[in-house]
Amino acid sequence: MKFTVAIDGPAAAGKGTISRQIAARFGFAHLDTGLIYRAVGAKVAEGMTPEAAAEGLVPEDLERGDLRSLEAGQAASKVAAIPAVRAALVEFQRRFARQDGGAVLDGRDIGTVICPGAEVKLFVTASPEVRAHRRWLEVGGDASQVLAEVKERDDRDMNRADAPLRPAADAVTIDTSEMTIDAAVDAACAEVLRHQ
Ligand code: C5P
Repeated sequence: MKFTVAIDGPAAAGKGTISRQIAARFGFAHLDTGLIYRAVGAKVAEGMTPEAAAEGLVPEDLERGDLRSLEAGQAASKVAAIPAVRAALVEFQRRFARQDGGAVLDGRDIGTVICPGAEVKLFVTASPEVRAHRRWLEVGGDASQVLAEVKERDDRDMNRADAPLRPAADAVTIDTSEMTIDAAVDAACAEVLRHQ
């Protein structure tokens, strides 16, 4: 069975948790596509060109332990604005999406560019303040700086020319600003059930 769930949205909106829960509940494979751009950003920080880093990416690169930091997120959103980097990563993501048994991919352009034919498309969002607060609970530090970083990354992701962050025309939006994570997961699972 081929069945793709595409989940897009800004940082810390809840798409990671929702994706993992959908994968667990329906037995789908899960790809956090942000990790791909984070891994490319980390290789560039070590001196590789962005194009070489993207073309030479192997699955083990996604398992590096240093990809979750705020700095890695900023580095990711810089390389993610380079069209040659995005182009080099399309096939890997599409192959993952069409594997047997179903797949859920989360990112910024899954429903719009990578999998425009996905059976289910969700756009998971929340206000910048709520997302910054959630991120701050995870990483600590200066709360106003975390908010500034969230806004800076949103701005870069939404305003780039190639594959900007935006909901697909046929995506269902889930605004998690005033929802518990359980309620958001339930809403997302209900959408999957509707299309199965
Ligand atoms: O989701 P995450 O915060 O890990 O993503 C890191 C960065 O990678 C994002 O800010 C975005 O610039 C980029 N990204 C992207 N397209 C995706 C996933 C992530 O451009 N599908």
